[in-house]
Amino acid sequence: MFTLDAKQCFNAYTKKFPDVEMNRLKIAHTERVVAVALEIMKRSAFPEALMALGEAAAWFHDVGRFPQFQRYQTFSDRHSVNHALLSCSEILQQGWLDATPAKSRDLILKAVEFHNLREVPPQLDPDEALLVHLVRDADKLDILALLEQAIATDYLADHPEVYWGLPFTAPLSDAVVEAIEAGASVSYKDIQSFADFVLIQVAWCNGGFHFPASCALVLERNSLAIRQTYLCSILPSGEHERIKRCCHLAEVALKRKVQNGASIHISP
Ligand SMILES: [Fe+2]
Repeated sequence: MFTLDAKQCFNAYTKKFPDVEMNRLKIAHTERVVAVALEIMKRSAFPEALMALGEAAAWFHDVGRFPQFQRYQTFSDRHSVNHALLSCSEILQQGWLDATPAKSRDLILKAVEFHNLREVPPQLDPDEALLVHLVRDADKLDILALLEQAIATDYLADHPEVYWGLPFTAPLSDAVVEAIEAGASVSYKDIQSFADFVLIQVAWCNGGFHFPASCALVLERNSLAIRQTYLCSILPSGEHERIKRCCHLAEVALKRKVQNGASIHISP
């Protein structure tokens, strides 16, 4: 039985770091990821025995962000360290899982370690896959929500740091559109414009979410229509057809997954 109070561990841990905006952003992100992870588990008939582990993995997935920012003053892994691995080493160093059985401990650590990889590693066992996908889906759903909030508050045009300083009104890149048409994830090396940056998230919707419940949440939040309308409002009309096509493909994929229903793998 897993009885760790992960929320309490997280709250006590984050209090050790300065009360600055970047840290507050990560605390708020984690709280939302936990809420979404709980919602996905509730809607997915998640195995009861894994629910507390899923919640703990959500609380812990980004704890490495706090020492990362303290040491390097950046959240860019490329310019510092892999924050998921740093989260794992913090979890171990804090001793949060010392009293947890090895199997449960490994499940949480794998979910944290793999949450930011482009692709989920093959050969995960069914329980591992469930927890890894849970954290990845919940994390992505919050990243979608953040962009939607930025669009709603007209935050983007004056804050290029949000989208890596990419040209705001440059066209879509062919390679990015082709990836979406192929149902593949977008390679970050192909990202040349703000529109490409947005299409990374559209590609998540086209096959990047694991749980039908996650797809349902994306549809309920109107995430694709919001992106399509916004991109069409800032890009010339010659780009509109490709934008609409990408968003349409993603919407079809989301609806298909919702209709096909839950595909929970329950361990024997
Ligand atoms: Fe993360």
